[in-house]
Amino acid sequence: MPAVGIVIGDGNREYPGKLTLYVTMTCIVAAMGGLIFGYDIGISGGVTTMESFQKEFFPSVYEKQKNDHESNKYCKFDSIPLTLFTSSLYLAALCSCVVASYVTRAFGRKLSMLLGGVLFCAGALLNGFATAVWMLIVGRLLLGFGIGFTNQSVPLYLSEMAPYKYRGALNIGFQLSITIGILVASVLNFFFSKIPGGWGWRLSLGGAVVPALIITVGSLILPDTPNSMIERGRFKQAETKLRKIRGVDNVEDEMDDLIAASEASKLVEHPWRNLLQRKYRPHLTMAILIPSFQQLTGINVIMFYAPVLFQTIGFGNDAALMSAVVTGLVNVGATVVSIYGVDKWGRRFLFLEGGLQMLISQVAVAAAIGAKFGVDGNPGVLPKWYAIVVVLLICIYVAAFAWSWGPLGWLVPSEIFPLEIRSAAQSVTVSMNMIFTFIIAQVFLMMLCHMKFGLFIFFAFFVAVMSVFIYVFLPETRGVPIEEMNQVWRSHWYWSRFVDGDENGRVEMGKVH
Ligand code: BGC
Repeated sequence: MPAVGIVIGDGNREYPGKLTLYVTMTCIVAAMGGLIFGYDIGISGGVTTMESFQKEFFPSVYEKQKNDHESNKYCKFDSIPLTLFTSSLYLAALCSCVVASYVTRAFGRKLSMLLGGVLFCAGALLNGFATAVWMLIVGRLLLGFGIGFTNQSVPLYLSEMAPYKYRGALNIGFQLSITIGILVASVLNFFFSKIPGGWGWRLSLGGAVVPALIITVGSLILPDTPNSMIERGRFKQAETKLRKIRGVDNVEDEMDDLIAASEASKLVEHPWRNLLQRKYRPHLTMAILIPSFQQLTGINVIMFYAPVLFQTIGFGNDAALMSAVVTGLVNVGATVVSIYGVDKWGRRFLFLEGGLQMLISQVAVAAAIGAKFGVDGNPGVLPKWYAIVVVLLICIYVAAFAWSWGPLGWLVPSEIFPLEIRSAAQSVTVSMNMIFTFIIAQVFLMMLCHMKFGLFIFFAFFVAVMSVFIYVFLPETRGVPIEEMNQVWRSHWYWSRFVDGDENGRVEMGKVH
């Protein structure tokens, strides 16, 4: 029987500390780093369906869609250049998070956030003023570089700053701002697409400078995390900061552990190669699988292509964009539920409940689409109630994702890595997330064309697999101080064989091979 939950041994510590206003404000500002990511996710799908945008940059796509009277609705929007526009950003993000991992380790989390904000700002301006395809592409690459930096640093920053009892809630601020970014972007697309003259897409794309400026300025005023100061040898400064953050004077225990973690970390010359050591097997496994699974839930099919999908099931242009706004609202609301519950109910409960709910709703969507569209993709006239049922099912699915895999896909990796591999492992997480986001963005429309309603079963299958994986292999991490996390692996039925520790259950900090 797999060990469920955690048993903390003697090494368990209770660090004193309150949820101070200072730490709350700091985390809110840092979490805004998620806005740029969300804004982009929400904006690109809508922009690529704007006719004026297609005419200007992808005339062949525009012509094809106008003249395409094919009755097979499954294949209507299958176009490689357009999907490349959306997905190219994720390749850039993938490359930059490797560089970001060095910057984050050597110069602190703040500098990574700052670089992310500046790069994203430059990309947004280039896109907003684009007059040629190359400007669009270079702009997207800059946006991607920016996202690589912020997604690398923000989750780590939040997990290090937060008092461990509130770490889940504060960290999910990142996901909350992703969802707010997505929502704001879909509302803006709705209005900008109506601007006479068809130049509204410039506002949509250029509007990304606003969230970019927020995180750029934010990163300048944010303090560095004590963990990161210690990592760079600034002990006194770190101690003063820790007192201020925690709102108490006796921070010695926590300081001791942070310093021990940092010493272990200094012995590691090659954090990347280090990751391959046997004792980091559980961390590496999670760094790879959690973000990949997060994308294999199929969420970005909805996030990128909701307007397209809703048009396919018979909504007009406006109704399709409006329904995307509705799913966006559900996404934000359910993330708030997660903030409320993550440190109370734990990560495992949310993962498992969310998984079950996604599985059921995906099978229901597949059945609903299969029933009307069949295999030839020709549904005839679709009644209104039908479209409403599909939107409802999709909302149930989005809610499940938004309180489980959405936030936890970023939270859990950021809290389980020991300091010595934290930056490197986080960049594995970001890379895997970006690779799978790229693949799904790129092949979804093609898959829809070939797999038809079976596509939803395909994702449902992965949801089943990942839920079993969580049940068997992921220990509960709620309420465990971040530098004490090794406990959790040591007491796990499977992972305990990989990690070492002394007889008290404390990690052998100095022992690095
Ligand atoms: C994921 C994104 C997704 C978003 C939806 C994030 O956690 O990484 O890929 O689009 O959630 O809210």
